[in-house]
Amino acid sequence: MLRRLHHSQPDDFAFTAANQAWAEAQVTKYPQGRQASAIIALLWRAQEQTGWLTRPAMEHIADMLGLAHIRAYEVASFYFMFQLKPVGSVANIQICGTTSCMICGAEDLIGICREKIAANPHELSADGRFSWEEVECLGACTNAPMAQIGKDYYEDLTAARFSEILDELAAGKVPVPGPQNGRYAAEPLGGLTSLTEYDSGKTQYNASVQAAVDLGDTIKRIDGTEVPLLTPWLGKAGKRPVASSGAAKPKAKAKAKAKAVVKPKVKPVAKDGKPEMLTSARAGGADDLKQIKGVGPKMEAMLNKMGFYHFDQVAGWRAKEVQWVDDNLEGFKGRVSRDEWVKQAKVLAKGGITEFSKKVKKGGVYE
Ligand code: FES
Repeated sequence: MLRRLHHSQPDDFAFTAANQAWAEAQVTKYPQGRQASAIIALLWRAQEQTGWLTRPAMEHIADMLGLAHIRAYEVASFYFMFQLKPVGSVANIQICGTTSCMICGAEDLIGICREKIAANPHELSADGRFSWEEVECLGACTNAPMAQIGKDYYEDLTAARFSEILDELAAGKVPVPGPQNGRYAAEPLGGLTSLTEYDSGKTQYNASVQAAVDLGDTIKRIDGTEVPLLTPWLGKAGKRPVASSGAAKPKAKAKAKAKAVVKPKVKPVAKDGKPEMLTSARAGGADDLKQIKGVGPKMEAMLNKMGFYHFDQVAGWRAKEVQWVDDNLEGFKGRVSRDEWVKQAKVLAKGGITEFSKKVKKGGVYE
């Protein structure tokens, strides 16, 4: 299949603060001079942030890694896991069309996608919430036919059940993934015939499904609000090991660079994630926070009351702080991450404009 960059691209790309810190930390996994090895991880994170991989995102990552832009285009266009076109905002449905699944009914599932989502793969549904594609074997052949939706597998599907799953997703629900025919995992339909002692004391669902249910992240994209495990390979202190005496000391330049990457120039986040607040706006007055999409007059008043008056305050929130504010916006929980306030505030704090702030400045949005 010919994979080309989408004809319509955004003007720019920036990682959220949390994703930027994560990306910089990923680079420290590799020896000096081999930072290019982090490209797939970074491209994937960018895709998770935006939903698909935009050209500015590829270029941003190539720049971060000191690569020519073409190197990022090559990787992104080679691997099918990278979506070069916008995908459904709720989910991109991936139907396995390889042998076991095809024999067991994948074509019926594809028929449902054509009927309910779009006539062709990689096309958005009319409301932009879904898209679909056929993929190669996803390694769940004993539970054929199956589909990957978000991060999880929906297995042992029938056309009817698959159709219901799409309806549930459209209604804002997240159906429990895993086998859809009552099987626990991949055992015989009639039940276990050996190793039966392992049948007792098991969790409600098999391990993968249980983790999916516990995390509740089936169709949630990675947005940086996950527990930040930025540099576990560097130890708790987040530092590269110091060469023991007698061993050759690492080059000063390399050491300095590693240090700079591992220790971002940011203040530590409070344990509970509570961001720094002000008692009043700084001299010069508060910023018009309503220029951030998702912040109306009521929300702005609430933010001011909490101690947030300026774009740079919002721009500086990291994952834990986003989580804290999201949890403490009475009646508006989850708005910060949902509307990507940090990303918008970063642009506004630098004096830039966003599509939305342009409209607010023009007037008519809140009058
Ligand atoms: S053939 Fe579909 S998962 Fe292997």
